[in-house]
Amino acid sequence: MKRYSVIGNPIDHSLSPKLHNYWLMENNIDANYNKIKLEESEIKNFIQEIKKQKIIGCNVTVPFKKTVIPYLDKLSPESKETQSVNTIIFHNNLLVGHNTDIFGFQKAIQNTNYNFENKKILILGAGGVVPSIIFALNRMNVSKITISNRTKEKAVNLKNQFNNIDILEWGMAISYDVIINATSLGLKNESINLDYLNTSKNKLFYDVIYNPTETNFLKEGKKSGNQIENGKLMFIYQAFEAFKLWHGIEPTINKETLKLLDND
Ligand code: ATR
Repeated sequence: MKRYSVIGNPIDHSLSPKLHNYWLMENNIDANYNKIKLEESEIKNFIQEIKKQKIIGCNVTVPFKKTVIPYLDKLSPESKETQSVNTIIFHNNLLVGHNTDIFGFQKAIQNTNYNFENKKILILGAGGVVPSIIFALNRMNVSKITISNRTKEKAVNLKNQFNNIDILEWGMAISYDVIINATSLGLKNESINLDYLNTSKNKLFYDVIYNPTETNFLKEGKKSGNQIENGKLMFIYQAFEAFKLWHGIEPTINKETLKLLDND
């Protein structure tokens, strides 16, 4: 039986095995997908296992999306530009890193029916998924991307990578059309506590988190009359694209798939 995995730390919360195993079964593919918690020191060995074909492919999640890069033979243009790999495939004797988070975000945004062209975007947070979001936004011809992160240094690092972005001090207000919460606040029902969120109206509030379905950030957005969207479709579509890369098949996305990811 072929083996696929997602690696990260922590990894308990990952719903990738549920989704991929469902699709594997649906497509009668004799393979299994599991989650593996690794320490940074174990990454190199693990990647070499893929080369020995003990594992055919893997997904990479926080905090290793950049860590894996030196151990790969080739990067897709997107993963090179974002310095972020979430999918590894062993192809033609080469380990190739891909970034399917970009595709995931693009599809999720298409689904909101919100036109991003010429819009001002504010991103809260500067973690692992933000380079992919910036890359996707740049393709959507938005007018301005501003990043606000508690630890300013991380926002500055992003600006070195994408010099068209602006930095906003954490806690300061700015006008925006779309606000994207890419912080991990919300995972444990914590609030962001930024005063200006209460006064926003007719904006799009997007949270990369999908569990809980409505973070406090989204609840506040909804209460004051904004459109809201969580990260569920982004997650599903990044998995869809990874599945396609590994198996050459487009898996189905329907009510069943969406339900799989609801709270257990
Ligand atoms: P990583 O930073 O390891 O890539 P992540 O889950 O992708 O992990 O990112 C976590 C994000 O949530 C970061 O932007 C983090 O801000 P810091 O860079 O200052 O750590 C943000 N975050 C987490 N807890 C937060 C809090 N209590 N207040 C504000 N931002 C927070």
